[in-house]
Amino acid sequence: MRTQVGIIGAGPAGLLLSHLLHLQGIESVVLEARSREQIESTIRAGVLEQGTMDLLTETGVGDRMKAEGALHHGFELAFEGKRRRIDLTALTGKSITVYAQHEVLKDLVAARVAAGGSLYFNVSDVSIADIDTEAPSIRFVHDGVEQTLMCDFVIGCDGSQGVSRATIPAARRNDYERVFPFGWFGILVEAPPSSDELIYARHERGFALVSTRSPNVQRMYFQCDPQDSVDNWSDDRIWAEMHARVDSADGQRLIEGRIFQKTIVGMRSFVSTTMQHGRLFLAGDAAHIVPPTGAKGLNLAVSDVRILAAALRAFYREDRTDLLDAYSETALKRIWRAEHFSYWMTRMMHRLDDASPFEQRLQVSELEHVTTSRAAATAMAENYVGAAVV
Ligand code: FAD
Ligand code: DHB
Repeated sequence: MRTQVGIIGAGPAGLLLSHLLHLQGIESVVLEARSREQIESTIRAGVLEQGTMDLLTETGVGDRMKAEGALHHGFELAFEGKRRRIDLTALTGKSITVYAQHEVLKDLVAARVAAGGSLYFNVSDVSIADIDTEAPSIRFVHDGVEQTLMCDFVIGCDGSQGVSRATIPAARRNDYERVFPFGWFGILVEAPPSSDELIYARHERGFALVSTRSPNVQRMYFQCDPQDSVDNWSDDRIWAEMHARVDSADGQRLIEGRIFQKTIVGMRSFVSTTMQHGRLFLAGDAAHIVPPTGAKGLNLAVSDVRILAAALRAFYREDRTDLLDAYSETALKRIWRAEHFSYWMTRMMHRLDDASPFEQRLQVSELEHVTTSRAAATAMAENYVGAAVV
Protein backbone atom coordinates (compact mmCIF):
# COMPACT_ATOMS: atom_id res chain seq x y z
CA MET A 1 0.00 0.00 0.00
CA ARG A 2 1.24 3.51 -0.79
CA THR A 3 0.21 7.04 0.09
CA GLN A 4 1.79 10.47 0.29
CA VAL A 5 1.40 11.07 4.04
CA GLY A 6 1.03 8.23 6.56
CA ILE A 7 -0.64 9.39 9.78
CA ILE A 8 -0.53 7.39 13.01
CA GLY A 9 -3.42 8.16 15.38
CA ALA A 10 -7.00 9.34 14.83
CA GLY A 11 -7.22 11.92 17.61
CA PRO A 12 -7.81 15.59 16.87
CA ALA A 13 -4.28 15.97 15.43
CA GLY A 14 -4.37 12.99 13.04
CA LEU A 15 -7.92 13.42 11.79
CA LEU A 16 -7.68 17.18 11.29
CA LEU A 17 -4.36 16.83 9.47
CA SER A 18 -5.85 14.24 7.13
CA HIS A 19 -8.81 16.56 6.50
CA LEU A 20 -6.61 19.62 5.81
CA LEU A 21 -4.34 17.62 3.48
CA HIS A 22 -7.36 16.33 1.57
CA LEU A 23 -8.54 19.93 1.01
CA GLN A 24 -5.09 20.66 -0.43
CA GLY A 25 -5.21 17.65 -2.75
CA ILE A 26 -2.67 15.64 -0.73
CA GLU A 27 -3.42 11.96 -0.04
CA SER A 28 -3.11 10.43 3.40
CA VAL A 29 -3.91 7.24 5.29
CA VAL A 30 -4.79 7.30 9.01
CA LEU A 31 -3.96 4.29 11.21
CA GLU A 32 -5.72 4.12 14.61
CA ALA A 33 -5.26 1.55 17.38
CA ARG A 34 -8.76 1.93 18.83
CA SER A 35 -12.20 1.43 17.27
CA ARG A 36 -14.29 4.23 15.77
CA GLU A 37 -16.84 3.76 18.57
CA GLN A 38 -14.12 4.14 21.21
CA ILE A 39 -12.63 7.35 19.84
CA GLU A 40 -16.10 8.79 19.31
CA SER A 41 -17.13 8.19 22.93
CA THR A 42 -14.01 8.97 25.00
CA ILE A 43 -14.69 12.05 27.15
CA ARG A 44 -11.81 14.51 27.15
CA ALA A 45 -11.40 18.19 26.36
CA GLY A 46 -14.15 20.74 25.92
CA VAL A 47 -12.79 24.21 25.17
CA LEU A 48 -12.08 25.34 21.61
CA GLU A 49 -10.07 28.51 21.13
CA GLN A 50 -11.16 31.11 18.59
CA GLY A 51 -8.49 29.94 16.11
CA THR A 52 -9.67 26.32 16.42
CA MET A 53 -13.30 27.36 15.91
CA ASP A 54 -12.34 29.43 12.86
CA LEU A 55 -10.31 26.62 11.29
CA LEU A 56 -13.12 24.06 11.76
CA THR A 57 -15.60 26.53 10.27
CA GLU A 58 -13.41 27.57 7.32
CA THR A 59 -12.70 23.95 6.40
CA GLY A 60 -16.36 22.89 6.44
CA VAL A 61 -16.50 20.85 9.66
CA GLY A 62 -17.89 23.51 11.99
CA ASP A 63 -21.65 23.28 11.41
CA ARG A 64 -22.51 21.08 14.39
CA MET A 65 -20.04 22.94 16.61
CA LYS A 66 -21.84 26.18 15.77
CA ALA A 67 -25.30 24.68 16.27
CA GLU A 68 -24.65 22.61 19.39
CA GLY A 69 -21.56 24.15 21.01
CA ALA A 70 -21.87 27.01 23.49
CA LEU A 71 -20.15 30.25 22.53
CA HIS A 72 -18.65 31.89 25.63
CA HIS A 73 -17.38 35.47 25.87
CA GLY A 74 -15.82 35.19 29.30
CA PHE A 75 -15.25 33.00 32.37
CA GLU A 76 -15.26 33.49 36.11
CA LEU A 77 -12.48 33.19 38.64
CA ALA A 78 -13.72 32.29 42.13
CA PHE A 79 -11.49 32.82 45.14
CA GLU A 80 -11.77 34.00 48.75
CA GLY A 81 -15.57 33.68 48.62
CA LYS A 82 -15.99 36.01 45.61
CA ARG A 83 -16.36 35.64 41.86
CA ARG A 84 -14.77 37.91 39.29
CA ARG A 85 -15.27 37.79 35.54
CA ILE A 86 -12.62 37.77 32.83
CA ASP A 87 -14.32 39.32 29.81
CA LEU A 88 -12.49 37.54 26.99
CA THR A 89 -14.29 39.33 24.18
CA ALA A 90 -13.96 42.84 25.62
CA LEU A 91 -10.27 42.25 26.30
CA THR A 92 -9.25 40.43 23.11
CA GLY A 93 -12.12 40.63 20.60
CA LYS A 94 -12.18 36.83 20.63
CA SER A 95 -14.18 34.10 22.31
CA ILE A 96 -14.22 30.35 22.93
CA THR A 97 -16.71 27.55 22.25
CA VAL A 98 -17.43 24.75 24.69
CA TYR A 99 -17.90 21.69 22.47
CA ALA A 100 -16.70 18.23 23.45
CA GLN A 101 -13.58 16.80 21.83
CA HIS A 102 -15.34 13.55 20.90
CA GLU A 103 -17.97 15.58 19.03
CA VAL A 104 -15.16 17.25 17.04
CA LEU A 105 -13.84 13.76 16.31
CA LYS A 106 -17.26 12.57 15.10
CA ASP A 107 -17.42 15.56 12.73
CA LEU A 108 -13.91 14.91 11.40
CA VAL A 109 -14.45 11.16 10.94
CA ALA A 110 -17.72 11.86 9.12
CA ALA A 111 -15.95 14.34 6.80
CA ARG A 112 -13.13 11.89 6.03
CA VAL A 113 -15.57 9.04 5.39
CA ALA A 114 -17.74 11.25 3.15
CA ALA A 115 -14.66 12.23 1.13
CA GLY A 116 -13.66 8.57 0.70
CA GLY A 117 -10.64 8.98 3.01
CA SER A 118 -8.59 5.97 4.14
CA LEU A 119 -9.04 5.34 7.85
CA TYR A 120 -7.98 2.06 9.42
CA PHE A 121 -9.32 1.46 12.93
CA ASN A 122 -8.26 -1.33 15.33
CA VAL A 123 -4.72 -1.59 13.94
CA SER A 124 -1.97 -3.15 16.08
CA ASP A 125 1.79 -3.74 16.08
CA VAL A 126 2.52 -0.37 14.48
CA SER A 127 6.19 0.33 13.73
CA ILE A 128 7.95 2.96 11.65
CA ALA A 129 10.93 2.29 9.38
CA ASP A 130 13.41 4.21 7.23
CA ILE A 131 12.64 7.72 8.47
CA ASP A 132 16.17 8.73 7.47
CA THR A 133 15.34 8.05 3.81
CA GLU A 134 12.90 9.59 1.33
CA ALA A 135 10.81 6.43 1.41
CA PRO A 136 9.75 5.81 5.01
CA SER A 137 7.13 3.19 5.82
CA ILE A 138 4.75 2.07 8.54
CA ARG A 139 4.17 -1.59 9.33
CA PHE A 140 0.96 -2.57 11.06
CA VAL A 141 -1.49 -5.42 11.51
CA HIS A 142 -5.12 -4.99 10.47
CA ASP A 143 -7.74 -7.75 10.55
CA GLY A 144 -4.96 -10.20 11.38
CA VAL A 145 -2.99 -9.31 8.24
CA GLU A 146 0.43 -7.66 8.38
CA GLN A 147 0.65 -4.71 6.01
CA THR A 148 3.21 -2.09 4.99
CA LEU A 149 2.24 1.47 4.16
CA MET A 150 4.88 3.16 2.00
CA CYS A 151 4.81 6.96 2.15
CA ASP A 152 6.72 10.20 1.61
CA PHE A 153 6.22 11.34 5.21
CA VAL A 154 5.17 9.75 8.50
CA ILE A 155 3.28 11.95 10.94
CA GLY A 156 3.12 10.73 14.54
CA CYS A 157 -0.22 11.91 15.96
CA ASP A 158 -0.42 8.96 18.35
CA GLY A 159 -0.73 10.78 21.66
CA SER A 160 1.45 10.55 24.73
CA GLN A 161 1.56 6.72 24.77
CA GLY A 162 2.20 6.17 21.06
CA VAL A 163 5.17 4.68 19.23
CA SER A 164 6.26 7.67 17.14
CA ARG A 165 8.19 9.73 19.65
CA ALA A 166 10.40 6.79 20.63
CA THR A 167 11.30 6.30 16.95
CA ILE A 168 13.35 9.52 17.07
CA PRO A 169 16.84 8.51 18.28
CA ALA A 170 17.28 9.29 21.99
CA ALA A 171 20.47 11.24 21.23
CA ARG A 172 18.43 13.75 19.20
CA ARG A 173 15.68 14.18 21.81
CA ASN A 174 15.46 16.50 24.76
CA ASP A 175 12.57 15.84 27.10
CA TYR A 176 11.37 18.49 29.55
CA GLU A 177 8.91 17.37 32.21
CA ARG A 178 7.12 18.47 35.37
CA VAL A 179 4.74 16.02 37.06
CA PHE A 180 2.19 17.58 39.42
CA PRO A 181 1.37 15.80 42.69
CA PHE A 182 -2.37 16.17 42.12
CA GLY A 183 -4.97 15.13 39.57
CA TRP A 184 -8.46 16.07 38.42
CA PHE A 185 -11.58 14.14 39.35
CA GLY A 186 -13.96 14.66 36.39
CA ILE A 187 -17.71 14.09 36.49
CA LEU A 188 -20.52 14.29 33.96
CA VAL A 189 -23.83 15.32 35.47
CA GLU A 190 -27.39 15.29 34.21
CA ALA A 191 -28.48 18.77 35.28
CA PRO A 192 -29.12 22.24 33.91
CA PRO A 193 -26.13 24.64 33.93
CA SER A 194 -25.26 26.18 37.29
CA SER A 195 -23.65 29.16 35.61
CA ASP A 196 -23.72 30.86 32.19
CA GLU A 197 -19.94 30.68 32.00
CA LEU A 198 -17.10 28.44 33.18
CA ILE A 199 -16.03 28.91 36.79
CA TYR A 200 -12.40 28.27 37.77
CA ALA A 201 -12.30 28.15 41.58
CA ARG A 202 -9.36 28.34 43.94
CA HIS A 203 -10.24 27.12 47.42
CA GLU A 204 -8.17 26.01 50.39
CA ARG A 205 -9.64 22.51 49.95
CA GLY A 206 -8.38 22.52 46.34
CA PHE A 207 -9.22 23.63 42.81
CA ALA A 208 -12.62 23.09 41.16
CA LEU A 209 -13.94 23.80 37.67
CA VAL A 210 -17.53 24.10 36.50
CA SER A 211 -17.94 23.59 32.76
CA THR A 212 -20.77 22.47 30.55
CA ARG A 213 -21.61 20.13 27.69
CA SER A 214 -25.21 20.91 26.80
CA PRO A 215 -28.34 22.41 28.37
CA ASN A 216 -28.89 19.03 30.12
CA VAL A 217 -25.34 17.77 30.76
CA GLN A 218 -22.69 19.51 32.84
CA ARG A 219 -18.97 18.81 33.16
CA MET A 220 -17.21 19.45 36.46
CA TYR A 221 -13.77 18.74 37.87
CA PHE A 222 -12.14 19.00 41.27
CA GLN A 223 -8.55 18.61 42.37
CA CYS A 224 -7.82 15.20 43.90
CA ASP A 225 -5.05 12.78 44.73
CA PRO A 226 -4.06 11.19 41.38
CA GLN A 227 -3.71 7.81 43.15
CA ASP A 228 -7.25 7.97 44.56
CA SER A 229 -9.97 5.69 43.17
CA VAL A 230 -13.37 6.85 41.91
CA ASP A 231 -14.82 4.05 44.07
CA ASN A 232 -13.93 6.05 47.17
CA TRP A 233 -16.19 8.86 46.05
CA SER A 234 -19.94 8.48 46.57
CA ASP A 235 -22.14 11.04 44.84
CA ASP A 236 -22.86 12.67 48.21
CA ARG A 237 -19.18 13.03 48.96
CA ILE A 238 -18.55 14.57 45.52
CA TRP A 239 -21.34 17.11 45.93
CA ALA A 240 -20.19 18.07 49.40
CA GLU A 241 -16.71 18.74 47.99
CA MET A 242 -17.97 20.67 44.96
CA HIS A 243 -20.28 22.83 47.11
CA ALA A 244 -17.50 23.57 49.58
CA ARG A 245 -15.19 24.72 46.81
CA VAL A 246 -17.53 26.54 44.43
CA ASP A 247 -20.63 27.86 46.21
CA SER A 248 -20.21 31.57 46.69
CA ALA A 249 -20.68 33.67 49.78
CA ASP A 250 -23.61 35.47 48.13
CA GLY A 251 -25.71 32.30 48.17
CA GLN A 252 -25.17 31.00 44.59
CA ARG A 253 -25.23 27.19 44.82
CA LEU A 254 -24.28 24.55 42.28
CA ILE A 255 -27.21 22.64 40.85
CA GLU A 256 -26.87 18.91 41.58
CA GLY A 257 -27.96 16.11 39.27
CA ARG A 258 -27.35 12.44 38.47
CA ILE A 259 -23.61 11.79 38.12
CA PHE A 260 -23.19 9.32 35.25
CA GLN A 261 -19.45 9.33 34.73
CA LYS A 262 -16.45 9.61 37.07
CA THR A 263 -12.77 9.63 36.08
CA ILE A 264 -9.44 10.63 37.60
CA VAL A 265 -6.63 12.01 35.44
CA GLY A 266 -3.06 12.81 36.45
CA MET A 267 -1.46 16.10 35.49
CA ARG A 268 1.88 16.88 33.95
CA SER A 269 3.73 19.29 31.73
CA PHE A 270 5.92 17.70 29.08
CA VAL A 271 7.72 18.84 25.93
CA SER A 272 9.84 16.63 23.69
CA THR A 273 12.12 18.33 21.21
CA THR A 274 12.83 17.94 18.39
CA MET A 275 9.45 17.35 16.78
CA GLN A 276 11.03 16.19 13.53
CA HIS A 277 13.62 13.63 12.53
CA GLY A 278 14.16 12.92 8.85
CA ARG A 279 10.76 12.19 7.33
CA LEU A 280 9.01 11.70 10.71
CA PHE A 281 7.11 14.63 12.25
CA LEU A 282 5.32 14.63 15.62
CA ALA A 283 2.13 16.59 16.32
CA GLY A 284 -0.13 17.05 19.36
CA ASP A 285 0.19 15.04 22.56
CA ALA A 286 2.82 12.82 20.89
CA ALA A 287 5.24 15.72 21.40
CA HIS A 288 3.83 17.68 24.34
CA ILE A 289 1.41 17.55 27.26
CA VAL A 290 -0.07 20.38 29.29
CA PRO A 291 -1.99 20.17 32.56
CA PRO A 292 -5.64 20.77 31.60
CA THR A 293 -6.09 23.98 33.64
CA GLY A 294 -5.51 26.30 30.66
CA ALA A 295 -7.63 24.18 28.25
CA LYS A 296 -4.79 24.08 25.75
CA GLY A 297 -4.10 20.42 24.80
CA LEU A 298 -6.58 19.98 21.97
CA ASN A 299 -5.92 23.49 20.69
CA LEU A 300 -2.18 22.87 20.53
CA ALA A 301 -2.78 19.68 18.55
CA VAL A 302 -4.81 21.80 16.12
CA SER A 303 -2.16 24.50 15.80
CA ASP A 304 0.60 21.91 15.20
CA VAL A 305 -1.25 20.33 12.29
CA ARG A 306 -2.23 23.68 10.83
CA ILE A 307 1.51 24.51 10.61
CA LEU A 308 2.32 21.05 9.28
CA ALA A 309 -0.41 21.12 6.63
CA ALA A 310 0.92 24.45 5.30
CA ALA A 311 4.48 23.05 5.24
CA LEU A 312 3.39 19.90 3.38
CA ARG A 313 1.46 22.02 0.90
CA ALA A 314 4.62 24.08 0.21
CA PHE A 315 6.51 20.80 -0.33
CA TYR A 316 4.03 19.28 -2.78
CA ARG A 317 2.89 22.45 -4.59
CA GLU A 318 6.09 24.51 -4.66
CA ASP A 319 8.81 21.94 -4.06
CA ARG A 320 9.90 23.86 -0.97
CA THR A 321 11.32 22.21 2.15
CA ASP A 322 11.99 25.35 4.20
CA LEU A 323 8.64 25.26 6.03
CA LEU A 324 9.04 21.56 6.82
CA ASP A 325 12.58 22.22 8.10
CA ALA A 326 11.27 25.04 10.31
CA TYR A 327 8.26 23.04 11.61
CA SER A 328 9.66 22.12 15.00
CA GLU A 329 10.89 25.64 15.73
CA THR A 330 7.68 27.30 14.50
CA ALA A 331 5.38 24.97 16.46
CA LEU A 332 7.48 25.13 19.63
CA LYS A 333 6.96 28.89 20.00
CA ARG A 334 3.25 28.37 20.50
CA ILE A 335 3.80 25.20 22.51
CA TRP A 336 6.12 26.86 25.05
CA ARG A 337 3.70 29.80 25.41
CA ALA A 338 0.87 27.35 26.15
CA GLU A 339 3.12 25.34 28.47
CA HIS A 340 3.90 28.46 30.48
CA PHE A 341 0.27 29.59 30.60
CA SER A 342 -0.99 26.15 31.67
CA TYR A 343 1.71 25.86 34.33
CA TRP A 344 0.98 29.37 35.61
CA MET A 345 -2.79 28.76 35.76
CA THR A 346 -2.18 25.42 37.47
CA ARG A 347 0.13 26.90 40.11
CA MET A 348 -2.20 29.84 40.75
CA MET A 349 -5.43 27.84 41.04
CA HIS A 350 -4.52 24.60 42.86
CA ARG A 351 -3.88 23.74 46.45
CA LEU A 352 -0.12 23.23 46.45
CA ASP A 353 0.97 21.01 49.29
CA ASP A 354 4.54 22.22 48.84
CA ALA A 355 3.48 25.87 49.15
CA SER A 356 4.19 27.79 52.34
CA PRO A 357 1.52 30.14 53.77
CA PHE A 358 3.59 32.92 52.15
CA GLU A 359 3.20 31.35 48.69
CA GLN A 360 -0.49 30.77 49.29
CA ARG A 361 -0.94 34.50 49.88
CA LEU A 362 0.95 35.11 46.63
CA GLN A 363 -1.62 32.96 44.80
CA VAL A 364 -4.43 35.14 46.15
CA SER A 365 -2.53 38.32 45.35
CA GLU A 366 -2.05 37.14 41.78
CA LEU A 367 -5.77 36.38 41.46
CA GLU A 368 -6.58 39.86 42.79
CA HIS A 369 -4.17 41.30 40.22
CA VAL A 370 -5.54 39.46 37.15
CA THR A 371 -9.09 40.35 38.15
CA THR A 372 -8.47 44.04 38.86
CA SER A 373 -5.72 45.14 36.47
CA ARG A 374 -6.88 45.45 32.88
CA ALA A 375 -3.33 44.82 31.67
CA ALA A 376 -3.01 41.60 33.67
CA ALA A 377 -6.51 40.45 32.71
CA THR A 378 -5.71 41.10 29.04
CA ALA A 379 -2.55 39.01 29.24
CA MET A 380 -4.54 36.14 30.76
CA ALA A 381 -7.36 36.50 28.23
CA GLU A 382 -4.96 36.58 25.26
CA ASN A 383 -3.40 33.34 26.42
CA TYR A 384 -6.76 31.72 27.11
CA VAL A 385 -8.26 32.48 23.70
CA GLY A 386 -4.97 31.58 22.03
CA ALA A 387 -4.07 35.04 20.75
CA ALA A 388 -0.77 35.40 22.63
CA VAL A 389 1.28 33.92 19.76
CA VAL A 390 0.16 34.39 16.18
P1 FAD B 1 -4.94 11.94 21.23
O1 FAD B 1 -6.26 12.58 21.32
O2 FAD B 1 -4.38 11.25 22.41
O3 FAD B 1 -5.01 10.93 20.00
C1 FAD B 1 -4.01 9.97 19.74
C2 FAD B 1 -4.64 8.78 19.06
O4 FAD B 1 -3.59 7.87 18.68
C3 FAD B 1 -5.56 8.00 19.99
O5 FAD B 1 -6.82 7.83 19.38
C4 FAD B 1 -4.83 6.69 20.22
O6 FAD B 1 -5.71 5.58 20.36
C5 FAD B 1 -3.99 6.56 18.96
N1 FAD B 1 -2.78 5.74 19.13
C6 FAD B 1 -1.95 5.66 20.19
N2 FAD B 1 -0.94 4.80 19.94
C7 FAD B 1 -1.15 4.32 18.70
C8 FAD B 1 -0.46 3.39 17.89
N3 FAD B 1 0.66 2.79 18.31
N4 FAD B 1 -0.94 3.11 16.67
C9 FAD B 1 -2.07 3.73 16.21
N5 FAD B 1 -2.78 4.62 16.94
C10 FAD B 1 -2.31 4.91 18.18
N6 FAD B 1 -7.38 20.09 25.82
C11 FAD B 1 -7.94 21.28 25.49
O7 FAD B 1 -7.50 21.91 24.53
N7 FAD B 1 -9.01 21.81 26.16
C12 FAD B 1 -9.52 21.17 27.22
O8 FAD B 1 -10.52 21.65 27.76
C13 FAD B 1 -8.93 19.93 27.64
N8 FAD B 1 -9.44 19.25 28.68
C14 FAD B 1 -8.97 17.99 28.93
C15 FAD B 1 -9.57 17.29 29.95
C16 FAD B 1 -9.14 16.00 30.22
C17 FAD B 1 -9.80 15.27 31.34
C18 FAD B 1 -8.09 15.40 29.45
C19 FAD B 1 -7.64 14.00 29.74
C20 FAD B 1 -7.50 16.10 28.44
C21 FAD B 1 -7.91 17.39 28.17
N9 FAD B 1 -7.35 18.13 27.15
C22 FAD B 1 -7.85 19.38 26.87
C23 FAD B 1 -6.25 17.58 26.36
C24 FAD B 1 -6.70 17.00 25.01
O9 FAD B 1 -7.71 16.05 25.22
C25 FAD B 1 -5.48 16.38 24.29
O10 FAD B 1 -4.43 17.31 24.29
C26 FAD B 1 -5.83 15.98 22.84
O11 FAD B 1 -6.60 14.81 22.82
C27 FAD B 1 -4.55 15.74 21.99
O12 FAD B 1 -4.89 15.27 20.72
P2 FAD B 1 -3.94 14.30 19.91
O13 FAD B 1 -4.62 14.06 18.61
O14 FAD B 1 -2.57 14.86 19.89
O15 FAD B 1 -3.82 12.99 20.77
C1 DHB C 1 -12.92 21.76 30.25
C2 DHB C 1 -11.67 21.22 30.42
C3 DHB C 1 -10.63 22.03 30.78
O1 DHB C 1 -9.39 21.52 30.94
C4 DHB C 1 -10.81 23.40 30.97
O2 DHB C 1 -9.77 24.17 31.33
C5 DHB C 1 -12.06 23.94 30.78
C6 DHB C 1 -13.13 23.11 30.41
C7 DHB C 1 -14.04 20.87 29.85
O3 DHB C 1 -13.83 19.66 29.75
O4 DHB C 1 -15.16 21.37 29.65
